[in-house]
Amino acid sequence: MLSARGARWAKVGYAHGVQNRYDPVKNPQGAVKLENAENSLMHSELAQFIDGLSFDQSCCTYSEGYTGSLRLREAMANHLNAHFAPASAIDAEEITFAAGVTNLNEACALVACNPDADEAIMLGKPVYGAFSLDLCLRTGVDIEYVSVGDREQFTPACVSAFEAGYDAAAARGKKIRALVICNPHNPLGHCYPRETLVGLLQLCARKGIHLISDEIYALSVYGRADRAPEAFTCVFRPSIHPSIHSFIH
Ligand SMILES: Cc1ncc(COP(=O)(O)O)c(C=O)c1O
Repeated sequence: MLSARGARWAKVGYAHGVQNRYDPVKNPQGAVKLENAENSLMHSELAQFIDGLSFDQSCCTYSEGYTGSLRLREAMANHLNAHFAPASAIDAEEITFAAGVTNLNEACALVACNPDADEAIMLGKPVYGAFSLDLCLRTGVDIEYVSVGDREQFTPACVSAFEAGYDAAAARGKKIRALVICNPHNPLGHCYPRETLVGLLQLCARKGIHLISDEIYALSVYGRADRAPEAFTCVFRPSIHPSIHSFIH
């Protein structure tokens, strides 16, 4: 479920009128849009400067909206399908671009949680310190830190620690709306094995919360002194129940 503000924003269409944009060669009958603050007088000089004549000048415009051009989103969908082995193919329409993962984390907090409503996001400890700013500063969302104690952070045993954290928060009147994991983990440098991801996805399904997986270091694996390193598994790889909503970035 989205927060009230997330549900409101989901109804807003951000796409600009790409459907019938004027082009002197390809679409001479198209519409010339005068409403955007784009200086098309400079496009050919910009294209020349960036990449000679092969550069698509529509990339200098607001083009298809704020979430990335279809061409870019298709390229990312192809990349994810080729290298992240998702359980079902990812479509370009499911992809959104933003200026960095900090912004994506904040956007996820905004759409998952209502402000000033005792709503919170759950995180395991230790964790990337900037989450506390990125998820909370401007969103009005709280963080509930969960310690996995002396259990191994990446084994399925962490699932019961998160479940206990969820229940303890609920007993204090806090409503957890999402669990954020970092995979490969910052600062620990390890990856979550598939069975742990499945356990976490099942927990999120039981509790009706989002799983947000920050995979900024995807496909990078550090060696371990004590054993072979765990390979990276994207959260979209395990075949998951359709009612579970998860985000990766
Ligand atoms: C886990 C994690 N998420 C997000 C970020 C920030 O990403 P960006 O620089 O794309 O905003 C970092 C940067 O250190 C990070 O370690």
